[in-house]
Amino acid sequence: MYAIAVNGSPRKGGNTEILLQQALAPLADNGWETELVQVGGTPIRGCCACYKCKELKNNRCVIGNDGFNEVYAKLLKADAMILGSPTYFAAVSADLKALLERAGMVAIANGNAFSGKIGAAVVAVRKGGATHVFDSINHMYQMSRMIVPGSTYWNMGLGKAQGEVNEDEEGLNNMLHLGKVINWLGRSIKNSDLDYPLG
Ligand SMILES: Cc1cc2nc3c(=O)[nH]c(=O)nc-3n(C[C@H](O)[C@H](O)[C@H](O)COP(=O)(O)O)c2cc1C
Repeated sequence: MYAIAVNGSPRKGGNTEILLQQALAPLADNGWETELVQVGGTPIRGCCACYKCKELKNNRCVIGNDGFNEVYAKLLKADAMILGSPTYFAAVSADLKALLERAGMVAIANGNAFSGKIGAAVVAVRKGGATHVFDSINHMYQMSRMIVPGSTYWNMGLGKAQGEVNEDEEGLNNMLHLGKVINWLGRSIKNSDLDYPLG
């Protein structure tokens, strides 16, 4: 089974990345292939509303020169995706928003390609606005026929300076629990003989 975590912070190795690695750890321990992909700070831009993906239906975006399609191919392959963002002015980072727009649109255009996948949102925050970020990421999952697991709190970790989130024990424990729940859910889905409902 394959889980991808996407870092939507332009600050590589920062708090979002630490939280994502923490959520991936129980998955790797349980035999999942795991990968962390950096989207923050890359040229990936937002949807240009050309709707070509709805016409071409080739599981690609026509903006083909910014690395989006490579990330999208990994999302398509994933049993579970964990999208992470820092809180910027109480909102999702512009870099992760760009991925959400295009991945969400291309997947819907291609027969709801994310249908039945597990999706989790992870947020780094200094003080306020994290639930809005959390909600924004979940909005894409929940209209893409995905399955969103819960944890012990909304998946956020507190910290400002790079690495400060390591002092938020509750946040780190939440991420570990989230990873364990994704493992449990992913295996339960794999072992189920029921098909994910269409419609
Ligand atoms: C442009 C910008 C806007 C921010 N806005 C907020 C905010 O609205 N609320 C907050 O609590 N922290 C805010 N912060 C702080 C970051 O969310 C916090 O430092 C976070 O841990 C950064 O994660 P990172 O290390 O993965 O980049 C902001 C930081 C930046 C650079």
